Amino acid sequence: MDYKKIQKLIAEESLSRRVAELGEQITQDYEQRKLNVICVLHGALVFAADLIRAITCPLAFDIIRVSSYEGSQSTGAVRRMLGPSENVAGTDCLVVDDILDTGLTLSTIRYELQQSGAASVNTCVLLDKPSRRVHPVDPGYTGFTIDDVFVIGYGLDYEGRFRNLPYIGTLNQQDQGS
Ligand code: IMP
Ligand code: MG
Repeated sequence: MDYKKIQKLIAEESLSRRVAELGEQITQDYEQRKLNVICVLHGALVFAADLIRAITCPLAFDIIRVSSYEGSQSTGAVRRMLGPSENVAGTDCLVVDDILDTGLTLSTIRYELQQSGAASVNTCVLLDKPSRRVHPVDPGYTGFTIDDVFVIGYGLDYEGRFRNLPYIGTLNQQDQGS
């Protein structure tokens, strides 16, 4: 795979500007609450790491690991693999994910956290692809709304690769396998 074939969609500066805005908004909204940031691994790792440093009110941080994707296709089922490690009961959970696509992942996590006794459950996604939605879910705080394109970078992967790109890029369909 030639990295030059990656098209830049959202540059580093735009990402950091938007993350700062989201952090400010979340700080205002959660100042008087029991904020529990839950990062959905692996895709949201980079975003969540930047986001929590843009939030200035007290917070707890936890992780959850699920999987619904193989390559660039959703399998249609969510497998829970890990977490959260702490009891979420009574906390104001903010689930942070990289991208809201069909909505399967976030609707499943949201339901499970509510069942576990969370005081509230909200979501924060870096990217929203509304045209792909199958399961209705409110994206909550949203970084950017994008078209139906497969994106990589800033935590997002294609078959485990490209998470380390500092920007969001698109991969041409014919390049995905090479
Ligand atoms: P959903 O359950 O269909 O909403 O899918 C959400 C998950 O699918 C995200 O957390 C990503 O891990 C993965 N995903 C969806 N679209 C993309 C994409 O364009 N690039 C990389 N991963 C994606
Ligand atoms: Mg993910």
